[in-house]
Amino acid sequence: MRLIILFLPLILLSKEDWFITKLEYGKMLYNNPRGISCAKCHGKHAQGKIIAKYYETKNNKKILKTIKAPNIQNISFEKFKKKLFHKYLSVMPKYDYLTNEEINTIYLYISSLKDKK
Ligand code: HEC
Repeated sequence: MRLIILFLPLILLSKEDWFITKLEYGKMLYNNPRGISCAKCHGKHAQGKIIAKYYETKNNKKILKTIKAPNIQNISFEKFKKKLFHKYLSVMPKYDYLTNEEINTIYLYISSLKDKK
């Protein structure tokens, strides 16, 4: 009897669903990529979002401008990866410290969100 009680937690933990799936891991990374969250700017479902609004004056006219993080649900892997390592001035920070596995996993996750709003 004692032996069974001792091993019960091990038997329960050995079930496959104890581990998180690749998509769940991707969601975690998208929301917390060891830096500022992608979701903060690109939205919960990578659907894109307006980050800021401001006015610009031109010829005495006030023009409303917006800064938008685009929808990235359907982006190509090449474009996606390049953006994470970008070297120019951008509102978006660079994420050049992410490992290949992390990059692939985030890409898998955002691609799974197609057409979610
Ligand atoms: C501070 C806001 C911000 C954060 C955080 C952010 N982005 Fe961005 N992202 C932008 C903006 C703004 C653009 C568009 C302008 C530009 O390219 O600089 C952009 C562009 C992109 C593009 C290129 C889209 C295209 O159509 O060319 C990709 C891919 C992307 N972001 C992915 C990510 C991922 C993945 C993360 C998290 C690891 C992330 N972004 C975090 C603001 C952000």
